[in-house]
Amino acid sequence: MSHIASRLSAVKPSASMAVSQAAKDLAATGVDVIDLGLGEPDFAAPAHITEAAFEAARRERMLYTASLGTPDLRKAIVDKFKRENGLDYTIDEIAVANGAKQIIFNALMATLEEGDEAILPAPYFVSYPEMVKLFGGVPVTPACPAENGFRLTPEVLEAALTEKTRWLFLNMPGNPSGAVYTVSQLQALGAVLAKFPKVMILSDEIYEHIIFDGRTFVSFGAACPELRDRSLIVNGMSKAYAMTGWRVGYAAGPKELIKAMATIQSQSCTSVSAPAQIAAKAALEGPQDCVAEFRAAFERRRDLVVEGIAKINALSLDPPEGAFYAYIGCAALISARTPDGKRLEDDVAVAKYLLDEGHVAAVPGTAYGLSPFFRISTATSDEVLAEAVKRIGAAVAKLEF
Ligand SMILES: Cc1ncc(COP(=O)(O)O)c(C=O)c1O
Repeated sequence: MSHIASRLSAVKPSASMAVSQAAKDLAATGVDVIDLGLGEPDFAAPAHITEAAFEAARRERMLYTASLGTPDLRKAIVDKFKRENGLDYTIDEIAVANGAKQIIFNALMATLEEGDEAILPAPYFVSYPEMVKLFGGVPVTPACPAENGFRLTPEVLEAALTEKTRWLFLNMPGNPSGAVYTVSQLQALGAVLAKFPKVMILSDEIYEHIIFDGRTFVSFGAACPELRDRSLIVNGMSKAYAMTGWRVGYAAGPKELIKAMATIQSQSCTSVSAPAQIAAKAALEGPQDCVAEFRAAFERRRDLVVEGIAKINALSLDPPEGAFYAYIGCAALISARTPDGKRLEDDVAVAKYLLDEGHVAAVPGTAYGLSPFFRISTATSDEVLAEAVKRIGAAVAKLEF
């Protein structure tokens, strides 16, 4: 007899973490594995950010804070939304949590009833459907193919909306696709949503600053101000400031929802750790050169990977517009034969083959709801990426088509 609650039966552990574990297991046997599974910047958070936390912890006691975050940090977030996104929020419309992930978790727990639907355009961030299922919701995952730049179109959105739709998730730049939306593309989606007043919009903008080719980022909140009272704009410190382990995410949204999220937060983790909030405030209010430097490095690596993959005939990759992943199409590899005679049935088999033969860990597209693809993270050094692309090319060359 299991002691685990039935609500967990449909929920899977994170696929990218599972790939990383497989890579670690193989590395433990002495194999030189390149792990491109997880999406973590390989930079250190700048010293003025970490020092702010150390300095405060030496000077004063670090106590529980308000569940929604310290007033100081929430004020810095209000200013950030104004300065960078042209959005007007007040402090009581801001929530801080342990990463954007916990923000999303709290928002779903606060709003989903059994059987409510959440539209997650595929490919989507791996955690979205699992969180939706955890709270009795039903993920609806319309395909947004490469031909449309992996973007949700108004027609596809309209076809996915039902009486039961509670949430539409948008994620831009997207993980895993890198897709970015223009103002007019967002407004076209907004026009459809105007007809469905019960639907809330969660816009996950955590990769906002990692955007390429001179594009300007436009927040969903700025493109569709008429939907302000049902939009939750999610962001965080992890990607822009290389602060994944500090665990600070935040959101701006309607007061009623923010208040409900505060109740959940106060009865679960109480608050985000006080020093991490001090570091986040220092990051938002301090010099922003690091953000531009990281962005430039990610763009250079994107170019390196796009060039390398273009030389491998059987793979396809349009240049990602942002974020730090390459979502590589591998349709031509399906049914190819490996050197030991196995057929590659799907992208899970492709990712396994790349790990076993090329010693490169990549996450299969199945995990993101759109196949056949595999995702590699480009958040690692140029040298490692160049070697990884070389290994992928050599592994593909050994296949029999
Ligand atoms: C789209 C997206 N949202 C949220 C997160 C999680 O961010 P955080 O570290 O703030 O929880 C990730 C991390 O990979 C992500 O890719």
